[in-house]
Amino acid sequence: MTLKPPVGTSPHSTGTVDEGAARERGRLESIQHNVDAFTIGLIQDLPVEASWNCLELGAGAGSIAYWLAERCPDGRVVAADIDIRYLEAGRAANLEIQEADITREDYAPGSFDLIHARYLFCHLPTRDEVIRRAADWLSPGGWLVVEEPYHLPVETSPFPLVQRILAAYQQKYGEYGADMTWARSLPAHLARSGLSEVSYSGNLGCMGNLGADRWLPLITQAAPALIADGLITEKDLAAFSDLLKDPAFIDIPQVTISAWARRPLETPNSPPP
Ligand SMILES: C[S@@+](CC[C@H](N)C(=O)[O-])C[C@H]1O[C@@H](n2cnc3c(N)ncnc32)[C@H](O)[C@@H]1O
Repeated sequence: MTLKPPVGTSPHSTGTVDEGAARERGRLESIQHNVDAFTIGLIQDLPVEASWNCLELGAGAGSIAYWLAERCPDGRVVAADIDIRYLEAGRAANLEIQEADITREDYAPGSFDLIHARYLFCHLPTRDEVIRRAADWLSPGGWLVVEEPYHLPVETSPFPLVQRILAAYQQKYGEYGADMTWARSLPAHLARSGLSEVSYSGNLGCMGNLGADRWLPLITQAAPALIADGLITEKDLAAFSDLLKDPAFIDIPQVTISAWARRPLETPNSPPP
């Protein structure tokens, strides 16, 4: 049995899933390695200006915040995370690292030209409310870009071991209020938060022989808690590691749904924000 999860946190942000900082860094870097190119392509398609003020929510190991700091040299970038151990303040003069629980943090309305978050909202029990508040933090014309995982139903995997491991993973994270299917409603949430020009796209999250695999660090990091709760065994973990080496193993457990929208520009007659 594990202790009841603290409210408003996630298992990795509290270190409850695994105390090992090295494993958490490995997990964060593996995410970056696999999806940064997609994220950067998406942001580059926006009319980004050198003077923009940006907020990276749940910045993790910082790659997107560092990229934004370079892309917006005349602006500033705030990289906020509940756990800032993996962020380097010295990476850029216009970068501010902020230790913050985003479910409690607030910023002045109109503070940012771009707010980006990736794989954060799925972990926040009050995700709908935080999306609405983030929309208020945008300056007129500013963009909110959110990218979240949508887990395909585990029972549809052709691999019983993958079914078992992902069901355990979802159950464990679910105990902390995580929702790995919320991403489906993300575009609607942006539209209902008063934002305009809502757009969305998807990025397949594959397991197996199609290149670098981000799932082993993810599952390895969660494994001690999953094993302690009897959800999987050491043998399952070893078999999973072997399966990932099998060239004929390919599965698609997740799609990352990315959605973006902007705060409407003020017209001469509109009231001040
Ligand atoms: C799955 S990681 C993703 C990291 C990064 N966004 C990326 O995609 O590379 C989730 C991040 O959200 C942070 N996080 C979780 N709950 C948070 C909260 N309530 N407030 C701020 N950050 C939080 C975690 O510490 C972790 O760095």
